[in-house]
Amino acid sequence: PLTRSLSMGSLSGLPLWDQEELPVEDLLLFEVAWEVTNKVGGIYTVIQTKAKVTVDEWGENFFMIGPYYEHNFKTQVEQCDPPNAAIKAALESIKNNGCQVHFGRWLIEGTPYVILFDIGAAAWNLDRWKGDLWNTCSIGLPYHDREANDSLILGSLVAWFFKELQDKPNVIAHFHEWQAGVGLVLIRSRKLPMATVFTTHATLLGRYLCAGNADFYNNLDKFDIDREAGERQIYHRYCLERAAVHCSHVFTTVSQITAVEADHMLHRQPDVVTPNGLNVKKFSAMHEFQNLHSMNKLKIQEFVRGHFYGHLDFNLEKTLFFFIAGRYEFSNKGADVFLEALSRLNYLLRVHKSDVTVVVFFIMPAKTNNFNVESLKGQAVRKQLWDTAQSVKEKFGKRLYEALLRGEIPDMNKILDRDDFTIMKRAIYATQIVFHPEFLSSTSPLLPMDYEEFIRGCHLGVFPSYYEPWGYTPGECTVMGIPSVTTNLSGFGCFMEEHISDPSAYGIYIVDRRFRSAEDSCNQLTQFMFSFCQQSRRQRIIQRNRTERLSDLLDWRYLARFYIHARHLALCRAFPERFKMDSLNQGFRYPRPPSVPPSPSASLHSTPHHSDTEDEDDHEPYDEDEEAERDRLNIKAPFTLGAVPEGKK
Ligand code: UDP
Ligand code: G6P
Ligand code: GLC
Repeated sequence: PLTRSLSMGSLSGLPLWDQEELPVEDLLLFEVAWEVTNKVGGIYTVIQTKAKVTVDEWGENFFMIGPYYEHNFKTQVEQCDPPNAAIKAALESIKNNGCQVHFGRWLIEGTPYVILFDIGAAAWNLDRWKGDLWNTCSIGLPYHDREANDSLILGSLVAWFFKELQDKPNVIAHFHEWQAGVGLVLIRSRKLPMATVFTTHATLLGRYLCAGNADFYNNLDKFDIDREAGERQIYHRYCLERAAVHCSHVFTTVSQITAVEADHMLHRQPDVVTPNGLNVKKFSAMHEFQNLHSMNKLKIQEFVRGHFYGHLDFNLEKTLFFFIAGRYEFSNKGADVFLEALSRLNYLLRVHKSDVTVVVFFIMPAKTNNFNVESLKGQAVRKQLWDTAQSVKEKFGKRLYEALLRGEIPDMNKILDRDDFTIMKRAIYATQIVFHPEFLSSTSPLLPMDYEEFIRGCHLGVFPSYYEPWGYTPGECTVMGIPSVTTNLSGFGCFMEEHISDPSAYGIYIVDRRFRSAEDSCNQLTQFMFSFCQQSRRQRIIQRNRTERLSDLLDWRYLARFYIHARHLALCRAFPERFKMDSLNQGFRYPRPPSVPPSPSASLHSTPHHSDTEDEDDHEPYDEDEEAERDRLNIKAPFTLGAVPEGKK
C-alpha cells in the first residue's frame, strides 16, 4: 500500500477524537460514484441519504460526480452554472476538447451540486484511455466488458477534471466502489496533489464466490484470489478494484464483516469502517407512524382482495404481510432460505390450527426480456380471458348440442347460467401476476404504492441474506417502525448485534447464518416467523414502537462522523505538513443525541409477555404501556456508539 495505517483504535468503533473543525472554506470535497442520480441498489441510498449532512457541513464546497443519463438528468436535476470559477473553468476545458459534461443541483434533500459526465459522448477516447491505463498500471480491459469500459471512461474524465483543477484549493475526493475507482488510480499515478478516500460496499470476489455457493466465511483465508478472479472472468475488474483500494490514502468499508472480507479478498485492512445511515425523519407524535401503518396496510389489503378475487377464503383482519426486497441475487439475498422457511411456517401454522394467514411479497426487479409490467399484465390477462372464453365456449357448445338432440332451438338468454357470468366477470377483473419483476412505484399498474408506503403497510420484512456487506432494507424497516429479520452475515445485523443487547425485543430478529448449518438457520428463521405470527395485535403495536426507537442509531446525524473522520485522516496523509493527526486526536467525544434515546445495549433480556387478545380494539399506540415497560427493563443509558472496545475485529 502507498499509505500506512495509523493506530486509530478499533475498526468499527471510533476512538475519542476532537471534533476538529476543518477549514472547509479552503477545501473542496468531491464524492464520486456510479450511482449519483442513478439508482441501482444500496449505494444510491448511501449517496442520496447522506447528501443533507454533507451539504450542512460543506455548503457550496461539496460536489458529487457521476455518469450522465438524459432521463435521470431531466427528472432529478436542475441545471445551473457552477458556483466556483475554478470548477467552471475545468469543465469548460473538458467541453472544449470534445466531451460533454452537465452541471446542476440534484433535487434531493440538501440539493447538492452534481457534475455528470456523458460517457457515450466521450467513448471515442476509449482506445487511447485503455492504452493509458495499460501504460500506467498494466491493467487491460476486454472490449466486450461494457461496464468496465464505462468505468474507464468515467475514471479518465474524472482524473482529467482534477488535473484541470490542480493548484486550486486542497481537494478531497471520495470514491465509491470499483466502478468509480479508476479515477482514483489515475489521480494517484499522475501524482495529483489531492487527498483520496475509497469506500467499498462489497468486494467483487466476495459477491461472486457467495453467489456461486462457496462456503465463503469458513474459507476466507484459503482462496487463491487471483485464480478465482481469473476463472470467473473478472480478473480485470478485480485488478481495478484492488488498485483503487491500494492507491487510496484512506480505505473504508461499510461494515466490520466487509472489513474482514476486504482484508482477505483485497489484501488491505480498512482504516475506518463507515456504517451506512439514513436520513431519519422523526414524527412529533408517536402514533403518527402507527397510523401510517394502518393506512398503508389498507392499500395492501385492497391489492390482496383484488389478487385473490373469488378465492378469498381467509380473514384479512387476521392476515400478516411479510416481504423480502432487493436486487435479484437469489441466494445472496437469502430468498432460497426464506422460501424453505415459509413452507415450514405453513406447516406449523396448519398443525397448530392457527387462524393467521401470511401473505408474502417478493419485491425484486428481475430480467424481463423486455416485457415491462404493463405488457406482462396484458399477457396474463389476455391468457386468462382466452382460457375463460374457451371454457365458456365448451359449456355453450355442450348445451347447444343437448338442446338440438332434444329437437329444440335453445333460448339464447338462458343457455348461460349465473355461474358462467360470474366466471366471465372474474376473468375481466382478476389479474394473474404473481411475479412482479420491478421495484415498487406509485405509478405501477399492479400495486400503486411507493416502496416506503409499502414497507409501512407490512408487518415484517424478511432479509435472511448470506452475502450482505450492509443491507439497507432492514434498516429502512427499522426507521419506519416495522420489525425485520436480518442475519449475522449482514453488516447491518452485526452492527445491531454489537449495539443492542436484546435485538429481537426491539423487532430486529438476527438469524445465525454464520455458525449454524443451513438447516438450522432455516429452522431458526421459521421459529422467528412463527412466534411473530403468535403475537397479538397489541404486542405488535408495542413492538413497532420499540423498533422505531432504534432509528436514532441509524441516523446520518451520528453516523456521518465516520465519513468525517475518514476525510480528516486522508488530509493528514496527503498533506502532512498542513494537517496533523495530533491536532485531530484530542479528546473527541460524540455529542449526546439531542434527545437521548433509551439504550438497547443497556437493556435486560426481555420479551414482552402480554395476555391481551387480538380482538381488543387497539387504536392507541400504547405509549403508556411502553413507558412502563421501559421502567421495568431499567433502560437508562444512551447508545454506546463509538465506545466499542478496542481490537474487536
Ligand atoms: N428498493 C427500492 N424499491 C424497491 C425495493 C428496494 O428503492 O421496490 C431499495 C431499498 O430502499 C434499498 C435498496 O433498494 O435502499 C437496496 O439496498 P441494499 O443495501 O439492501 O442492497 P443492495 O441492492 O445494495 O445489495
Ligand atoms: C396501528 C394503528 C392501530 C391499528 C394497528 C394495527 O397501531 O394505530 O389503530 O389497530 O396499527 O396493527 P396490526 O399489526 O394488526 O396491523
Ligand atoms: C452494496 C451491498 C449492500 C449495501 C450497499 C450500500 O450494494 O450489497 O449490502 O447495503 O452496497 O453500502
